[in-house]
Amino acid sequence: MKYVIGNWKANNTLDESLQWIKIFIIELQKNQTLKKKIEQEISVVICPPFPHLYPIKQKLEGFRNIFLGAQDISSVEKGTYTGETTALNLQGLIQFAIIGHSERKKNFHENEQMTSLKLQLANKYGIKPFYCINNLDGIISPLIEFICWEPPESISSGDGKGNFKSLADILKFKKMLNLPNSHFIYGGSVNENNIKEYVVSDEIEGFLIGGASLDPYRFLHIIEHS
Ligand code: PGA
Repeated sequence: MKYVIGNWKANNTLDESLQWIKIFIIELQKNQTLKKKIEQEISVVICPPFPHLYPIKQKLEGFRNIFLGAQDISSVEKGTYTGETTALNLQGLIQFAIIGHSERKKNFHENEQMTSLKLQLANKYGIKPFYCINNLDGIISPLIEFICWEPPESISSGDGKGNFKSLADILKFKKMLNLPNSHFIYGGSVNENNIKEYVVSDEIEGFLIGGASLDPYRFLHIIEHS
């Protein structure tokens, strides 16, 4: 089973997110082959902004192997922490969460102590973490189920057309990482043009798609070729 994760980041009005999911569903209904491929081979995880999770969840009822994920969870469990969104708040609404994304480290001073707490809380509340690292130093536990490598120079272009890594570079990093028990996911300007280069290898078990996931047609194209 491969994972294709769409990280919308801080984009979209509610109307835009609803329009996205409407197109996504219409296109899937038109393309039963792709729908079957998802059911059998590809776990799709959509990570919209927090307030759009529930409206999108309602639209996805009945679809198999399409899940919701949070872009982050709080490092606190519950209580007097105004503005935080915790794993406890999200339990039952999402199945996955991105943890330790480099944009959080860069813009919100997230550190390893926080990501470690987030991991523990995700586990406690039954949320599967996609744990992001930028380099070989980012590993805090060899027992993480999903490791996502995001090379800093390859992400955050906004449109998914940044300076992506070659397959050879990705495989080299995976080898150095040496975590045979973790699923290895790559995120860094993966888009509808370069996906074909990556899928020739089974070593990459999933893709974290930022900019290119904002357009449902581009995202579906990536799923179709994953
Ligand atoms: P990008 O983002 O595809 O826009 O580079 C990847 C990510 O969310 O890490």
